[in-house]
Amino acid sequence: MKYNFDEMIDRRGTYSLKWDGGDMIKAFGLTERYDEDTIPLFTADMDLPVPQPLVEALHKTVDHRIFGYSVFPEEYYQAIISWFSKRHGWEVKKDQIIYSPGTVHALNIAVKAHTKPGDGIIIQRPVYPPFTSAIEGNGRKVVNNALVPDEDGYYSIDFADFEEKAKDEDTTMFVMCHPHNPTGRVFTEHELKKLAEICHRHNVLIVADEIHGDLVRKGQVFTPMAKVAEHTDHIITCTAINKTFNVAGLHCTNVIITNPELKAVFAAEMGGQLASPFAIAALISVYTDGEDWLEQLKVYIDDTLHYVKDFLAERLPEVKVMIPEGTYVMWLDFSGYGISAEDIHDRIYNKANVVLEDGKLFGQEGEYHQRICVPSPRPVIREALERIAAEFEDLASKKQTEEKTV
Ligand SMILES: Cc1ncc(COP(=O)(O)O)c(C=O)c1O
Repeated sequence: MKYNFDEMIDRRGTYSLKWDGGDMIKAFGLTERYDEDTIPLFTADMDLPVPQPLVEALHKTVDHRIFGYSVFPEEYYQAIISWFSKRHGWEVKKDQIIYSPGTVHALNIAVKAHTKPGDGIIIQRPVYPPFTSAIEGNGRKVVNNALVPDEDGYYSIDFADFEEKAKDEDTTMFVMCHPHNPTGRVFTEHELKKLAEICHRHNVLIVADEIHGDLVRKGQVFTPMAKVAEHTDHIITCTAINKTFNVAGLHCTNVIITNPELKAVFAAEMGGQLASPFAIAALISVYTDGEDWLEQLKVYIDDTLHYVKDFLAERLPEVKVMIPEGTYVMWLDFSGYGISAEDIHDRIYNKANVVLEDGKLFGQEGEYHQRICVPSPRPVIREALERIAAEFEDLASKKQTEEKTV
């Protein structure tokens, strides 16, 4: 079936964090302004309809009229195994899979189960903020191996710094974001192998958050860390249907752990977790019948990313941005405008009335950046960008005038 991702679906009044969660996000400090005219492009879910077979699978579950405790049927495991084999050439086994109601939940469990208070945990900032909370919130220490941008805003790993930090005997874990949110990097096999080797050498456990792994650009290849690492017994991988199929509200993450002892410790920390019948039905449906939709979605997202890049080049020329290799977020560098981070925020959030995410939330490295999530119908993205551009026009013209007078 052909999907129309330009369709505008009104999400207000559906308990949507993005569209109904103004009070919560104001309390969280993301924005001061949030009203019926706000365009929210902050949280990573999509304003796009899900695959039709999924809608039908969920209808079938509703029509049953009883929503009791549920078990994971064989089809659940087989759907996961065949998805990773077919899409990523990664052979997962049933007894390596453990369900979690969320990926952030799983990260917290891994930190609690496999490190002790005071341990150092490596992350690569700027990075998805809950990585920091999972570490600091559990009394562990962030060890930052900052990714390094080149002049175009393409980020690379500083391996010397990584090894230096991994060597420290207080460093016991590396929480990796792959593909990387917000920089959009999809790490190469070479990079992954090198990271895995260093961690193996220094006895550092890897937690690979790969929930954006299905969402890479045309021509890009996503390689799971546990597929290429020589030793997989020190790797915990978080996978999910949440991002790929826009079902974050259904809470369905699957953690893959090849080492049975590590898995047992993780499972004990988690306690028995059952999924809802909706999550189970959803996973079986999307991993079995979701590919056609996913291929169409990826084309739509690729086109939107190019649309945003072209728009910025023309109307906000001082914003530096790259097409991300993976994810559907863009990491916009506003430092070229030469104004303060507060002024950048004020123009976007208070004046344009668009909610993005301030870069500093991802680490101090992101001070002059903004993260935008683009999987919304293109008219919504266009309107948000038009509003933001209008608030920066005075700066652009000042700069152009200066250039002319020189
Ligand atoms: C890297 C990363 N991990 C985890 C999550 C959240 O996952 P979950 O909703 O399963 O906790 C996100 C959401 O944006 C993310 O980008």
